[in-house]
Amino acid sequence: MSQLFTPMQLGKLSLSNRIIIAPMCQYSAEQGKATPWHRIHLGHLSLSGAGLLIIEATAVEAAGRITPQDLGLWDDETEQALAETINDVKRYATMPLGIQLGHAGRKASCDVPWRGGGFLTPQQGGWQTSAPSALPYSENDGAPLALTKARIAEIKQAFIDSAIRADRLGFELVEIHAAHGYLLHQFLSPLSNQRDDEYGGSLENRMRLVLEIYDEVRRVFPRDKAVGVRISASDWVEGGWDEAQSIALSKALEAAGCDYIHVSSGGLSPQQQISVGPNYQVPFAAGIKAAMTTMPVIAVGLITEAQQAESILTSGQADAIALARAMLYDPRWPWHAAAELVKVQAPPQYWRCEPHEVKGLFNL
Ligand SMILES: Cc1cc2nc3c(=O)[nH]c(=O)nc-3n(C[C@H](O)[C@H](O)[C@H](O)COP(=O)(O)O)c2cc1C
Repeated sequence: MSQLFTPMQLGKLSLSNRIIIAPMCQYSAEQGKATPWHRIHLGHLSLSGAGLLIIEATAVEAAGRITPQDLGLWDDETEQALAETINDVKRYATMPLGIQLGHAGRKASCDVPWRGGGFLTPQQGGWQTSAPSALPYSENDGAPLALTKARIAEIKQAFIDSAIRADRLGFELVEIHAAHGYLLHQFLSPLSNQRDDEYGGSLENRMRLVLEIYDEVRRVFPRDKAVGVRISASDWVEGGWDEAQSIALSKALEAAGCDYIHVSSGGLSPQQQISVGPNYQVPFAAGIKAAMTTMPVIAVGLITEAQQAESILTSGQADAIALARAMLYDPRWPWHAAAELVKVQAPPQYWRCEPHEVKGLFNL
């Protein structure tokens, strides 16, 4: 039996296997609105045989976009545009669909990656950014404004409103984006959060906004659907957010009833020292999983081979794996993994009945 192809639950949401398509920004929206690109891109990924498709970081307010081309879900127009795409995709999809909701904070107002991804001034089509503290990501960026309590409350409300819209669109899962140096991660890390109110300082205070947003989203998103959180388990910078703090946050989320934790890393600081290689983030997932009682843990990061994915699960380091680049490169990855892993132990008397269309199904 393959672990990768064993069904699982994220809360009340059932997945037919443990391959998750990780959220991937497409920078192909117009004023936050989905375009035909999304129909094509999500359409083919939704037929790939994975257990779940989580669509890209979707901004809860316009100022929360990484680039002017980011997808958004902040008003009726953005909801309507996404509805047209998602209705078509869901008509044929063979898997549940989730959406990642996020806010870029001080990493907003940038150009698309294929034009270098640099900071955009208002004259270049960018906008004033905001963050927990007035500390830019890099010295080339405009300084963000430190968020007032009133703005924090507005952003919290924006997550709630987007989650309500996501439910209306038929999404079965919301993933709160607290990774990769974006706004919620900026609140978690002591490197970017130097506030002296109840949202800064102690670990408890830095975790407050993520936990509040989780609670609010959970409150409005139906119980039979899943709500999870994606984190960066480490800033990879001395004195930054790290595995021990990630475990503390994961425990708090588990206690709050969170349906899963999705364990990535990095993105908060240009000073990060990462050595990237196969499974490079899996030890973080394993460390968090060891501290959990029930909450499923998703590992991600340079997982490219079927057997590699299977081993992560059978060794108990994670409950599911997510793939980003491997799915873009080979959108039939789950089929190929199934052909490799899901071998049936049939008796030799019956080997001649192996169907032509699934050659390799039997473990001859
Ligand atoms: C094109 C592209 C877009 C991405 N956009 C997002 C995103 O919207 N949200 C997010 O949390 N991570 C995003 N990521 C990171 C991936 O979800 C994933 O964590 C990372 O690529 C490592 O996994 P991989 O080695 O399987 O690609 C993106 C990655 C790629 C390649």
